[in-house]
Amino acid sequence: MTATRIDGKAFAARLRERVGAYAAGFEKSVGRKAGLAVVLVGEDAASQVYVGAKGKATLAANMASFEHRLPSDTTSEALMALVEQLNNDDSVDGILVQLPLPDHLDEQSIIAAISPDKDVDGFHVINAGRLSVGQTGFVPCTPLGCMMLLTDRLGDLSGLEAVVIGRSNIVGKPMAQLLLDANATVTIAHSRTNDLASVVRRADIVVAAVGRPQMIGKDWLKDGATVIDVGINRLPPEPGKEKGKLVGDVAFDEASEVAGAITPVPGGVGPMTIAVLLRNTLVAAHRNAGLEAPADL
Ligand code: GUN
Repeated sequence: MTATRIDGKAFAARLRERVGAYAAGFEKSVGRKAGLAVVLVGEDAASQVYVGAKGKATLAANMASFEHRLPSDTTSEALMALVEQLNNDDSVDGILVQLPLPDHLDEQSIIAAISPDKDVDGFHVINAGRLSVGQTGFVPCTPLGCMMLLTDRLGDLSGLEAVVIGRSNIVGKPMAQLLLDANATVTIAHSRTNDLASVVRRADIVVAAVGRPQMIGKDWLKDGATVIDVGINRLPPEPGKEKGKLVGDVAFDEASEVAGAITPVPGGVGPMTIAVLLRNTLVAAHRNAGLEAPADL
């Protein structure tokens, strides 16, 4: 069997298109654009690229983008003051502080300063708590994007065995919550799990978020499993090449011989993250304006 390739890039493009159309409608009825503020502290090269991409995508979706690039020696007080200013700014619906922050800044206390109703990353403890007890809040973008791909592929997930590999606050834990809410039977596995391969082999749904290149091979997978690969790892460069190849946590080619469907890296989960960020921002804008967000956002 050769697995169906789950095209996250195409799915994300359709979601961005939908967000853009609804954002135009929002501007017409409310009289202002939905707005996303992105804060970057320091010179981290990857973060610069992400923040640039987020700004561009925000504008392309008919929303306002507010970029704040601060020097790496920004004090905690100055960053807190900016967050407070954005909390109180009615043209800002969503606030994202790009992580990682420089070492002298405490990420948890900065995230805690963001208004939970503008926390479109879903990183605030209030939003983690809301997800955990089934209240409306904001769900982190990457796991929500994985969930959209899964329900698009499988429809109803009731009763399916799902194994999430990885237990981070940003991916593993919220992913498990979402799968549980969808009535899957959920196992969270991690680096200390005994006989990880046989745990994963039970799964109808595998979500891999461990950060180990090509760790999951075909003998780890049940026939026909749906595999969502959140990993983005760069292999060492081949001789004569400047950059190594990007690969996921799953050995894509061999896993494709066993899986029913699988996301590629790149072009799978990655493009979903920004699309869901735009979606969360437009949902925040509706809530902040006292409107119901469209059901298919
Ligand atoms: N750094 C890498 N990914 C993300 C993300 O989704 N949100 C934030 N705030 N920082 C990140």
